Amino acid sequence: MADPLNLDAIRRELSPADGWSLRVFDLVDSTNTLALGLAADGAPHGVVCLAESQHAGRGRGERIWRTPHGSALAMSIILRPSIERGRWPWIGLAAAVAVVDAIDETTGAQARVKWPNDVLIGEKKVAGILVESRSQADSSAVVGIGINVNNRSAALPEDVRSSAVSLLDATGRVTDRNRLAAGVLNMLARRLAELPHDIETAARRWNAASATRGRYLSILTPGGSLDGIDQGLDASGRLLILGPDGGSRAIHSGDVLLCRTAPPPLL
Ligand code: BTN
Repeated sequence: MADPLNLDAIRRELSPADGWSLRVFDLVDSTNTLALGLAADGAPHGVVCLAESQHAGRGRGERIWRTPHGSALAMSIILRPSIERGRWPWIGLAAAVAVVDAIDETTGAQARVKWPNDVLIGEKKVAGILVESRSQADSSAVVGIGINVNNRSAALPEDVRSSAVSLLDATGRVTDRNRLAAGVLNMLARRLAELPHDIETAARRWNAASATRGRYLSILTPGGSLDGIDQGLDASGRLLILGPDGGSRAIHSGDVLLCRTAPPPLL
């Protein structure tokens, strides 16, 4: 069905100036775990680990991330960002926008971002991003990107099946994973390059790609749940929510549980 991941095929599509250094594996526990270990051993900015499959892939909130062998995309990128700490949340946000753009360029499918790090097609999740560092003081970050590509979401375990979609489900066509991987890296390099000097553009890109802007959200935050209208991101990458009392709140971490186009019915 789909071609295997191939170093040369990915390299052919990469913008040479970006200097990514690729490593392709067959089976790993998690490309993020692998990349975090490499970063701790001193691997430089731009090392990218890709795997055909993961047996312990991780998602946000300690969720499991499945990577069926040979059909999905699992990649982790080591960054040594030259941006101030306060802007690091933008790394995952910029990565989500890069995935949207790469999906569009490679397949024509219209994906959208959902705060903080999800990529949706329609209302379903096609890709997720997990940014990790060893510690707060770590000078490196690992950006893990998982995309459902040529795997059928119907074949995923029951707990995620109804909320997931793959590019194959959405387009009816097999996608060249090597081209898609290169597309993500090309877009990511461009989006990251903006962050040190142009957060306004990064915020504009996010808002333009947002699946939820202007919609009514229920969000679970570490401090409890709250409802309100998505007003986009502030300069720190926090989600601005206009609450029912007319006040605006900036959310730095959480999960969007529900998203409606109309106000929720009064109880
Ligand atoms: C999420 O949506 O919860 C984030 C999912 C991130 C999955 C990717 S797949 C490549 C990398 N390795 C992992 O173990 N996780 C990330």
